[in-house]
Amino acid sequence: MMDAKILEKYRKAGKILAEVRAEAVKKVRPGVPLLEVAEFVEALIKENGGVPAFPCNISRNDEAAHATPSANDISVFGEDMVKLDIGVHVDGYIADTAITVDLSENPELIKASEAALENAIEIVHAGVSTAEIGDVIEKTINEFGYKPVANLTGHGLDRYVQHAAPSIPNRHVEQGVRLKAGDIIAIEPFATNGAGHVSESGAAEIYRVERLKPVRSPAARELLKELEKYKMLPFAKRWLHQVRLDFVLNQLEAMGVLRSYPVLKEDVGGLVSQAEHTVIVEKEGCQIISR
Ligand code: CO
Repeated sequence: MMDAKILEKYRKAGKILAEVRAEAVKKVRPGVPLLEVAEFVEALIKENGGVPAFPCNISRNDEAAHATPSANDISVFGEDMVKLDIGVHVDGYIADTAITVDLSENPELIKASEAALENAIEIVHAGVSTAEIGDVIEKTINEFGYKPVANLTGHGLDRYVQHAAPSIPNRHVEQGVRLKAGDIIAIEPFATNGAGHVSESGAAEIYRVERLKPVRSPAARELLKELEKYKMLPFAKRWLHQVRLDFVLNQLEAMGVLRSYPVLKEDVGGLVSQAEHTVIVEKEGCQIISR
């Protein structure tokens, strides 16, 4: 069983996250700059005593995930389907949540991912298989006439690790793993009116350190020094101040030190909705920490 002090940190991260999410949703209106919302979210997390576990993701329409504004981004919200994916950590213990704000008048697509999340949470308890969760998610989304995004999954969470085992499928899979009491998992169904598959598209604004290696170039060393505080968690390019930043990021990515996360877009341009909560698995059910 997990240490009570650790559980307390997860719950604190979740509480901060729920408060920040509620404030962030109010900011998403036509004409508002995306950068303003991302910076608002990240600042509010810190004000409330947490640390962003990853950059505030603001993915719109056929973008499913990994979009975050660049430092000089001037784009504003239009009649978009807006996914806010937000993470907070307290001493490395992460809570992860996502909500879709609909400025596009597609309420049923949003209900599909929200209902899938509710139905999935309903069956979580020690001993349930992740395959059963995937089945419930796919079935619920299909009932609304949509498809789950098959190649995006929920995930376990660990200290300073955002995507730990086990992965939580959003569709039927042959083989699952059984959850245990004390597991911390993020369940995040994505529903779409498209093909149900996403691919990487365009330049990345999000990176993380994947494997530390000795590097020679002073500029690369300087950047790695700046990145130390993020450990292995994702960070945004706009958070960094290094000179010749693109050059150094590319160099470190080529060496395998950094990994980039390009925007994931729906393959046929379908709209995508997402809902996500982080839960602690218990003997008889689960506790939602990001509610
Ligand atoms: Co997540």
